[in-house]
Amino acid sequence: MVLTDKCGRPLLNLRIAVTQRCNLRCDYCHKEGEELGQCSRGKAEEMTVDEITRIARIAISLGIDRIKLTGGEPLMRKDLCEIVTGIAAIPNLRELSLTTNGNLLGFQARELRQCGLKRVNISLPTLDAEVYHKLTGGRIEDALDGVKAAVAAGFYPVKLNMVVLKGVNGDAVPEMMDFARETGTILQLIELDPVNVDDAYFSVYHELLDANEEMLRQKAVSLENRPFMHNRHVYHLPDVTVEVVHPTENSEFCQHCTRLRVTSDGKLKPCLMRNDNLVDLLTPMRQGASDEELRALFIRVNERREPYNKNQ
Ligand code: 5AD
Ligand code: SF4
Repeated sequence: MVLTDKCGRPLLNLRIAVTQRCNLRCDYCHKEGEELGQCSRGKAEEMTVDEITRIARIAISLGIDRIKLTGGEPLMRKDLCEIVTGIAAIPNLRELSLTTNGNLLGFQARELRQCGLKRVNISLPTLDAEVYHKLTGGRIEDALDGVKAAVAAGFYPVKLNMVVLKGVNGDAVPEMMDFARETGTILQLIELDPVNVDDAYFSVYHELLDANEEMLRQKAVSLENRPFMHNRHVYHLPDVTVEVVHPTENSEFCQHCTRLRVTSDGKLKPCLMRNDNLVDLLTPMRQGASDEELRALFIRVNERREPYNKNQ
C-alpha cells in the first residue's frame, strides 16, 4: 500500500532529523524547517534509537520506501551506527541515506558503511577555505576529508550539496563540477530556501539557478526528471552528473513532493515551509501507543499534506 494525499501525491519518503545539534553554524541553514529557539535543546530530548527505528518501521509498513537521516548534523550522535543498523534491517526499504556536513565523516565513514548505509549527501558550498570558514565556521580540510572517506568507503552515490549564494559561491559552479568529476561524486545545486533565514538575508543571497541550468542544458548529453523527487532536473554531462534543486516559488516542486519529515523531537511535519500542521508522534509513543495508533497518526498527517506553492 501507498498513502496518497488529497491532491493525489503519494507518500514515499521520510526525512528523520535525528538531532538538532550541529558542529557547524552555516548562516544559510534552514534547520530542516524546525522552529528556532529549540536549537539549544540538549541531548535528553532527542529520540532514542528504538524510537527512531520504530517510526521507520511504521512508515515502511505504510509504503514509504526511502528514508533520509538529517539533523542538525547526524554524526553528532554517538549512536548513529545503531540507528542505521536498525533501519537498514527493515524489510521493504529501498533506500537509506544520510545528509551530513562531512566534517566527522573522515573518522566514521567506514563504520557507517559497515552498518548498512549505502549513500550520503555531503554539504559542500565551496572549495575555498576562507569562504568555507566564513559560511560554516568549519575547516574545508575536514569537509574534503569527509568526501574522500565517503568515496573510499564505497558509498554510492556520494552527492555534494551546494547551496548557491549570490556573490558568495555563485560563480564557483564550474570548479565544483570539476571537483565532482575528479572525485566521482554527483553535484547538487540547491537554490536557497527562505526557511529559517530572515528576509534581508534571503534578498541579498538568493540567486536563481536559471543561468546554471542553461549552461548545463547546453553541455548535457541527456536530461532526466525525477517525478517522485520534486520533478528535479538531472543533467548528465559526458563525465559528471549535476542535479538542480529549485524549491522556491516553484509549483512543480510542490506538486511532485512525496515527503514527510520527522522533527528531532518526534513530530510528523508535512511541509518544510510550515509549522502549523505538525502531528506529535513521540508523546503518544512514550505514553504506550500501539503500532496501530501510530499508523493512524501517519494517516492523519498525510491528510494534512498539501502543496505550499499552488499556483504559477
Ligand atoms: N536552502 C536550501 N538548502 C539548504 N540547506 C541547508 N539550508 C538550506 C537553505 N536555507 C541544505 C544543506 C544540506 C541540506 C540538508 O539542505 O546543503 O545539505
Ligand atoms: Fe545547518 Fe547543515 Fe550547516 Fe549544520 S552543517 S549548520 S545542519 S546546514
